[in-house]
Amino acid sequence: MTMKTNLTRRSFVKAGSLGAVGGALGVAATTSAAPAVGKTGDAGTPAVLGGTPAHKGGWPRWPQWDAASDPELADVMKKGVWSRAKLVTEFENQWAKMIGNKHALAVVNGTNALSAAFMELPIGPGDEVIISPYTFSASIFGVLYQKAIPVFADIDPTTYQIDPEKIRAKITPRTKAILPVHICGFPSDMEAIMKIAKEHKLFVVEDACQAHLSSIRGRKVGSFGHAGCFSFQTSKIMPIGEGGAITTDDADFKDRLYSYHNYGYASSIAPGTYASTIHSFRLGNKIRMAEYQAAIGLVQLKKLEAQHKLRNENGNWLRAKLAEIPGIKPVRLYDGVDSVSYYMCPFIYDAQAFKGLSRDKFVKALSAEGVSVTGGYPNDPLYTQGLLRTTFESAIYRKLYPAAELNFEQYKQKNHCPKLIQTFQTSVWLNSTPMLLGSRQDMADIVDAVVKIQRNADKIAKA
Ligand SMILES: Cc1ncc(COP(=O)(O)O)c(C=O)c1O
Repeated sequence: MTMKTNLTRRSFVKAGSLGAVGGALGVAATTSAAPAVGKTGDAGTPAVLGGTPAHKGGWPRWPQWDAASDPELADVMKKGVWSRAKLVTEFENQWAKMIGNKHALAVVNGTNALSAAFMELPIGPGDEVIISPYTFSASIFGVLYQKAIPVFADIDPTTYQIDPEKIRAKITPRTKAILPVHICGFPSDMEAIMKIAKEHKLFVVEDACQAHLSSIRGRKVGSFGHAGCFSFQTSKIMPIGEGGAITTDDADFKDRLYSYHNYGYASSIAPGTYASTIHSFRLGNKIRMAEYQAAIGLVQLKKLEAQHKLRNENGNWLRAKLAEIPGIKPVRLYDGVDSVSYYMCPFIYDAQAFKGLSRDKFVKALSAEGVSVTGGYPNDPLYTQGLLRTTFESAIYRKLYPAAELNFEQYKQKNHCPKLIQTFQTSVWLNSTPMLLGSRQDMADIVDAVVKIQRNADKIAKA
């Protein structure tokens, strides 16, 4: 075999396969040494050590808005109908259709979408809700507002999603619901979760706040459970700034949600209607989406599917390329997953394959190469945080539960999730919402950056 020592990283990327490069260089891609490629023959000097970044020129802007071609927002502002009216209804209809549910209710944000869903399910004090621990605090607020107990079931570290077998192990006569979180936009194992829910007559509320348009065998996440909850916060795939939605096929549930989101008025009362006969006939809230939010949402919806397609094309390419680098394992997809929102593009980092370079130093070095990346959520699990400790110490919880059940040390031990802890230490999240809208060359730059760091891992570790 001829040794092509002048093979550059760019030409490798064009050749399209790490294996091909490894072969050309007589280096198997699966060995612990990264392919000897790069502009200077040693993959160049890492940017963190003063070299030139692998990626220059930034990434597509996020969120995106073109005031000239998207006049809808200005139109609403000029018209002066700013509170919930026709555009919100139109947005709900389109969102329900997009997700594949009969109904959608638009609300102020994802946090309140989740809280409203729990408010309108028969879940309350003494009940348990089984939850993925790999998430953000807002996922569990709704459970706590209902004065129920969150029970954490560990994740599968290869998929980052709640492990269905761990859910089974946590079911008790008090379990009322399962709350999977499609973290990073990668679908949880909904087929297995729905089977468990059916067997045990449990509600399923999907936290799909990061998973717009992710799908399993053509079915969108958020449409599997009793309710799907979405966020339209700025960083999300469907950015409105703030906004959220609950999707469902249950008309009665939707009616109750509607009433709840509009002061507890009858669901037949249109927002903005005032009459002496209108009263809050039940406890409600006011979490209505505004017309200008819906106007932004309707514009974003027009672009969403094309962006989703591009993210999936680039994401699938990038994951395949990264998988060929020793020590990098993109998270695994469950059987049947056919598209991913790619809110994040996460992978599992093995420091051993990078000469012991710590995950945090790797993330720092990759950022210096011009890649937008973090290590994911901070290392303290939700079940250890002040949120739950102070809730358990609150007067209302102390009235509702025996002291033993609120013993926080015991609660932490009972909910300990070792696979989650392992994941905190090895996860790397590429900020793919904007990055995967880049060119194929931009994707190649990310691969180049990781290879460059691997080739120079010992120098970076010592620096
Ligand atoms: C997994 C998850 N759940 C819930 C939320 C809450 O959504 P919002 O910020 O719209 O209230 C978020 C948003 O960051 C999220 O990522």
